[in-house]
Amino acid sequence: MDITDLVLDQHQQQRHLFAAIQQMRGAKPEELGAVWGALKALLDVHAEAEERFLYPRLLKVGAGGADADSAEDETKDAIEDHNEIRDAGEDVEKHKVGSDDWFEAVTKADEANSKHLAEEERQGLADFRQHASLDERHQLGIRFLAFTSGHREGIKAVDKDPDGYVKAPEKELAKG
Ligand SMILES: [Fe+2]
Ligand SMILES: [Fe+2]
Repeated sequence: MDITDLVLDQHQQQRHLFAAIQQMRGAKPEELGAVWGALKALLDVHAEAEERFLYPRLLKVGAGGADADSAEDETKDAIEDHNEIRDAGEDVEKHKVGSDDWFEAVTKADEANSKHLAEEERQGLADFRQHASLDERHQLGIRFLAFTSGHREGIKAVDKDPDGYVKAPEKELAKG
């Protein structure tokens, strides 16, 4: 097992579900609501699991992947993006399911998420693969999989302070 593979798998699931919703214009609100509900739960639990199991270790062993200057830089960027994605997801929930405004809000969440996934795959994940051992990636993979599997119904979306997180992730996580 490898935490970076599990993260990539969930990124693909997110891309598939966003694409599916775009193909569901005209579908019943309960159908759209069910698919969106699964996607929202996945987005929230995925970000929280990365914040618990991936980024604290990346901050210690990373060197900055691709166009990132350092592990601090890529982590701070990621936490900012996670907040933006959480907020975009909350915004979807303010609109009537299936309305034009709802689809527009879903598209905005997709834009924020797509940008983040591309950057995370290029920077943090590549960096972690290069600097963390296979054994550590396996051990973290177990924790990541157990956490995301145990919260498939979703989790309370809690924004984190990016500067505070980079200095002391555990303190910032404890606020949730
Ligand atoms: Fe991710
Ligand atoms: Fe992420």
